[in-house]
Amino acid sequence: MRDFSGKTAVITGAGSGMGRYLAVLLAKAGANVAICDVNEESLNDTAKMVKEYNVGLSTHVVDMGDMDQIETLPDAVLSQHGAVDLVFNNAGVTMGSTFSGMSEEDWDWVMNINLNGVVKASRVFLPLLKDRPEAVLVNTSSIFGMIAVAGQTVYHATKFGVRGFTESLAKEFKGTSVQVHCVHPGHVGTNIIDNSRFNIDDERFMNQQIDKDKMAERFRTGGMHPSRAAEIILKGVKQNKRRIFVGLDAKLMDLAQRITPMHYEWLLPIINLPLYLIRNKKPLRGMPRDPGGISGNL
Ligand SMILES: NC(=O)c1ccc[n+]([C@@H]2O[C@H](COP(=O)([O-])OP(=O)(O)OC[C@H]3O[C@@H](n4cnc5c(N)ncnc54)[C@H](O)[C@@H]3O)[C@@H](O)[C@H]2O)c1
Repeated sequence: MRDFSGKTAVITGAGSGMGRYLAVLLAKAGANVAICDVNEESLNDTAKMVKEYNVGLSTHVVDMGDMDQIETLPDAVLSQHGAVDLVFNNAGVTMGSTFSGMSEEDWDWVMNINLNGVVKASRVFLPLLKDRPEAVLVNTSSIFGMIAVAGQTVYHATKFGVRGFTESLAKEFKGTSVQVHCVHPGHVGTNIIDNSRFNIDDERFMNQQIDKDKMAERFRTGGMHPSRAAEIILKGVKQNKRRIFVGLDAKLMDLAQRITPMHYEWLLPIINLPLYLIRNKKPLRGMPRDPGGISGNL
């Protein structure tokens, strides 16, 4: 798909980070947007930003970990927009903990949002996408769907899962009117730490004086600005790239696991430290003001 104008896009996790700027940039390109998030307040702030552009807009408060709520989403979008051309399964969370220190409830929370929700949304939206002359399904994995580190078992399980699911789906839809993409971001400066859970009593974090707020702030201000990440994702869609890597860190980490599949963790600090210094943390020019003030460096 080379032109988003007049198309309708559904974006999950649109209240913050990459989802928010996918909505803004799609609206700027003339697409109608159906924005979804579990957080009504931040979703409404994204809606205010989208309103700068003269496009159709609907907001949907949906928990992407609740399969019954996802089931009803296509009808809610159709009743407002009449069709769906693009779906971005972007909502995601993480859980910082060792596997042994994690409750089953926390495991299931991440599994449902990051993997089962992506599969369910793909299931319910694909029939609508197949009806369109050209259509796009974008599932967000991570560079952590390519490499693994300790303390993120459930995140890796979901992101490797999204990658496997999406690559197989892309092969099923090859040569049809539906483009299927998998996104692998490196470090993007978003609110994902604030929106996630940490088991601070876990043995992994003991003696480390973990301050979640400080960690969240460091993460938000140290990554590529989410508007730039969203721009890269949309460019990847226009170029019909099946795997969309976001950031030089993601590309180099992928290369590292190809070169040394058993020992790449030694290379990660060497890759990340210099990139931290040169990464573009400023928003794209001309982005609307964030009314809630949560969009990283805006
Ligand atoms: N930020 C990074 O460095 C990075 C790197 C790799 C992959 N990712 C992935 O990118 C995607 C977007 O994350 P982000 O970094 O923009 O994070 P973010 O926290 O800034 O935005 C995610 C949005 O998803 C929403 N959300 C959380 N749980 C939800 C639920 N149950 N139902 C509906 N919405 C829900 C949050 O409210 C938030 O608005 C995620 O899938 C994440 O795993 C992020």
